[in-house]
Amino acid sequence: MSQQTINEQFGYQAWLAYHPLADEAKREAANYRWIASCEQEETVQAAVSELVRGIGGLRGEAVQVSKEQEPITGKGIRIGTFKGNEEVRLLCGDAVERLSMEGFVIRTVGDITVIGANTSAGVLYGAFHLLRLLALGNAPADSDIVEKPANGLRMINQWDNIDGSIERGYAGQSIFYANNEISYDSERIQDYARLLASTSVNAIAINNVNVHRLETMFLTEAYLPRIAELAAILRRYAIKLYFSINFASPIEVGGLQTADPLDAEVREWWKSRAADIYAAIPDFGGFLVKADSENRPGPFTYGRDHADGANMLAEALAPYGGLVIWRCFVYNCKQDWRDRTTDRARAAYDHFMPLDGAFHPNVLLQIKNGPMDFQVREPVSPLLGAMEHTNQLIEFQITQEYTGQQRHLCYLVPQWRTVLDFQTLAQGAASPVKRIVDGSVYGRELGGFAAVSNIGSDANWTGHPLAQANLYGYGRLAWNPELTAEEIAREWAAQAIGPDEAVIDTVCEMLMASLDIYESYTAPLGVGWMVNPNHHYGPNVDGYEYDRWGTYHFADRDGIGVNRTVQSGTGYAGQYIGENAAIYESLERCPDELLLFFHHVPYTHRLHSGITVVQHIYDTHFDGAERAEGLVRKWQSLTGLVNEELYRLAQARFSEQAAHAKEWRDIINTYFYRKSGIADERGRTIY
Ligand code: GCU
Repeated sequence: MSQQTINEQFGYQAWLAYHPLADEAKREAANYRWIASCEQEETVQAAVSELVRGIGGLRGEAVQVSKEQEPITGKGIRIGTFKGNEEVRLLCGDAVERLSMEGFVIRTVGDITVIGANTSAGVLYGAFHLLRLLALGNAPADSDIVEKPANGLRMINQWDNIDGSIERGYAGQSIFYANNEISYDSERIQDYARLLASTSVNAIAINNVNVHRLETMFLTEAYLPRIAELAAILRRYAIKLYFSINFASPIEVGGLQTADPLDAEVREWWKSRAADIYAAIPDFGGFLVKADSENRPGPFTYGRDHADGANMLAEALAPYGGLVIWRCFVYNCKQDWRDRTTDRARAAYDHFMPLDGAFHPNVLLQIKNGPMDFQVREPVSPLLGAMEHTNQLIEFQITQEYTGQQRHLCYLVPQWRTVLDFQTLAQGAASPVKRIVDGSVYGRELGGFAAVSNIGSDANWTGHPLAQANLYGYGRLAWNPELTAEEIAREWAAQAIGPDEAVIDTVCEMLMASLDIYESYTAPLGVGWMVNPNHHYGPNVDGYEYDRWGTYHFADRDGIGVNRTVQSGTGYAGQYIGENAAIYESLERCPDELLLFFHHVPYTHRLHSGITVVQHIYDTHFDGAERAEGLVRKWQSLTGLVNEELYRLAQARFSEQAAHAKEWRDIINTYFYRKSGIADERGRTIY
């Protein structure tokens, strides 16, 4: 399919579709006749083009772009940076003083709406914000808006490989690579950048954290010119390019005998690589590193630690303002499955906590939201908040590896909100995760969000058309973690699907119910991992149980769950601070939804809800499968009310989900019936 044809498919424009406003008052609000900007800077110009495109679409009539000097009458927009546009600065008044580098002001003064910012990035965010307000019909007649992002770094990680495949990708092939080449359609990359920037994303790592042979060469002249071209497309949308590196590059690329981070020659080698990279890409963001994790090379080979490895790279990048983003996804705690004392969940904290304060100021640790690996339910990683002297970035997974692989609907924003609102107790009750990662609790300058993207070459980007809401929601939360999951769902639905309120209500209801539905028919009470190994799709209760890397459910005929208490288990519960540790330690106080993550209990153990564990498993699985069926019916109620292509695509996925949910129900319920020998109290047929 040509790019032209792809662009015309429903869903390609995603939440930047700018559907014409039918409502008279809303259209009137968007009735701008002119846009004035005197700056040629490319990001300011990108903001102007977005306004032209967006307002043109919403009001159904083209808008004129004016040069500053011309006399302008009627309702219009003045846009620019405070430095480059004196008039904008004056119109913004004293709000100018309160703005951070990426923040913006939107203000109405008579017929003029002014969008002003310190930087061109801020101008772009302001333009997208105004367009969002107009598309949602929420633009006040008299705007006086000042916004700034909560998080400095708002990053996307592509797990794309140079052969065109995407690790854990569920929406087609890579849009960056094909046939072992960097190979892309510039328009498609630009449109991706537009989508990302419109939600606030300002950084992207363009290749998989598992770096293969050819991607290891990204550091060299063979690839840098092409990567620089990509960086240029992204730069226009205020997105900095990063790439993932292989820690063993000095050997694999440089022909050195070692990659020891304390070796002088190795250090020099990285410095000269940095010089070459910055010569090609002056605003290169930095390196993303997966080291000593899942067999990736790292400093351990040389008897060095993570800080030695990260700091060596940090030193090479520091003269240029580059960052090292060092991932904490480590679990080298090989164990015998009968051994119930070592625990994969402990690994990140055990490895990194002793290194607090040892990392250079331009290093950030990227920490997955939970201690295991993006399960539908996990506790929050205890490392978040534990390290007072270390920059932290929280890592989410937008791509639905363990949450239905974009064949099932699973709106993840409610999960992320729960994580972000979790009180770490690092400094009392005012230290939720969101305040740890934005840097405010410990007064750190660097921090923010990273997430694994869910897009690919599919025309609608995400395969399941409703999975777009996850990508959209991620960026919106990174900007403002106080937005509710409902607000974000409504924003997405109205912009992507159309302004019909009844349709928006239905889609939002479906999105908001979906995480709970998915959790119900898959993994009960925080146990997780009951999936097929390798591809991670579909039920397999013992899929990971005998895996050498961890402790998963320990179901036997007497009970289920992992004892992670300090008193008699792996001690993981003790990695939390104060009252949190006490709550998880206690069988009585541990919340039901995490019970089996922290405790091994008999099937007859009664939950706070009053029912037994095994009955809870049966009930939730029957209920979840029924509710998945309900999604099919809800979607059917939209027949004729939404775009046909959208309807067809989503309908096929909802049907598959409903059938697959039944398979989950039957496999899980049968397994636990056989294990426990306890029948369903309500007499339903289990197998
Ligand atoms: C998961 C995932 C891998 C990925 C890894 C990571 O284990 O299945 O594909 O490489 O996470 O985050 O590095």
